[in-house]
Amino acid sequence: MNRVVVVSNRVPAPSAAGAQAGGLAVALEALMEQRGGLWFGWSGKIEASPSDKPRLLDAGRIRFATIDLDPEEHERYYNEFSNSTLWPLLHSMAELMTFDRRNAAVYRTVNQRFTDALVPLLAAGDMIWVHDYHLMSMPAMLRAAGVQAPIGFFLHIPFPSPDVLNSVPEAGALVRDLLATDLIGFQTRNDLDNFAEAAIRLGNAQRDSGGWLVADGRRIRLAVFPVEIEAREFAAIAEDSWRSVPAERLRRSLAGQQLILGVDRMDPTKGLVQRLAGYRRFLETQPQWHRKVSFLQIAAESRKDVIAYQDLRTDVEQEAGGINSLFAEPDWTPLRLIARAGARATMAGYMREARVGLVTPLRDGMNLVAKEYIAAQDPQDPGVLVLSRFAGAARQLDSCLLVNPYDTDEVADAIGTALGMSLVERTERWRAAWNAIEGASALGWGRSFLAALVRASSSGPQPGATADSNALQLTRMRSAPDLRRPEGQASPGLSLL
Ligand code: F6P
Repeated sequence: MNRVVVVSNRVPAPSAAGAQAGGLAVALEALMEQRGGLWFGWSGKIEASPSDKPRLLDAGRIRFATIDLDPEEHERYYNEFSNSTLWPLLHSMAELMTFDRRNAAVYRTVNQRFTDALVPLLAAGDMIWVHDYHLMSMPAMLRAAGVQAPIGFFLHIPFPSPDVLNSVPEAGALVRDLLATDLIGFQTRNDLDNFAEAAIRLGNAQRDSGGWLVADGRRIRLAVFPVEIEAREFAAIAEDSWRSVPAERLRRSLAGQQLILGVDRMDPTKGLVQRLAGYRRFLETQPQWHRKVSFLQIAAESRKDVIAYQDLRTDVEQEAGGINSLFAEPDWTPLRLIARAGARATMAGYMREARVGLVTPLRDGMNLVAKEYIAAQDPQDPGVLVLSRFAGAARQLDSCLLVNPYDTDEVADAIGTALGMSLVERTERWRAAWNAIEGASALGWGRSFLAALVRASSSGPQPGATADSNALQLTRMRSAPDLRRPEGQASPGLSLL
């Protein structure tokens, strides 16, 4: 089996790839362990004069290769261009975005440093899988360095309409850089359609009769691969954890009140302020629930050097304080806010305890917490998920209570509806949601993407592609027929362009 080279901004520490790491990191590692893998990216360290030579660490069949960033790179590439420009832009929240062309230049510099450090580590037969918005220029840079291996890119977050995208001068160049891939994967059809339109309008791409994009003599396949969780495994963790000491302590503290739960990163896209406003409206309009519920919001601190995130924390704390000062009683706290991450297993137990799960991002690529909440439920007595229509997960979990997170009254009403819902209706809605996620897995998601990458890169000559005699000679996947049978068995992405 040919080696997979995963490239991502963050690389999980090998030792963390268990209890603490999210399901996706674990699944990617499992995939790489099976076929041998190289995982390349940022070490998470900031050094005054970082070396361009990657630090290597072998763990089982996986080689981890990481480089450090210098303070300016960390600021301009990570905090600024990735998380203050691209993150809000790609979430269609241009009003939260800042732009400075110096940051864009450092973003390109870091993408080039990643490329230069990665290329010497590549070997014949590799297939390269680049992840997410931090590294959108890398596919073109890899091609410019002569890499002919299959390159796939997966965007974990949404992709906006070309009109929104156009608010950043660099956007057209980034779209063109991505067109150096063989396959680009998206979370939803909407993201795919937006990208295809942007590629045609800003990237000089065209559609061919087979439904591919063609740009600069290359054919690029677009497909949808909704990220999944290991649902059965998470369900088992939740069942165990529900009996654990932390869950037991939480239950005791509730003293019979129904638990409403939110678990998020403290991020402007998660709609935390709007969610709290919805809860406040619920308490105002449905006083019959006073003293009978308690809302636990876990909002793990994230990207704390980014100003929008600092402002958000202030706003969330203010809104939370306002709710408690208005509605709390000496012996009742309507809202508990924790601005720290909790262990994944503990969260699973809390999710099983919660009668209502609130997942109301303003926009979200997928939102795996929504899937985890469903997986964590007791099938005999499931809770109700109140889910934003603007989360990718809403496409699959449409049996849940879908809300517009900006509509305070709709969120308030949905909380009341969820709390008052009969066991029969809760079970019906939960069963439909469980059926949507039960059969899928994060590992299957990864396999599907790689299978589609093999197909995309082996589907015939690239029109107009030229051989570069000086190029690094990396074998294209179509010359590795042994790979194609097992890959071909994996299920494809949901839809193709
Ligand atoms: O959703 C995009 C993403 O990059 C995730 O992959 C990650 O878990 C999250 O955002 C946190 O990002 P950061 O690496 O900036 O802490």
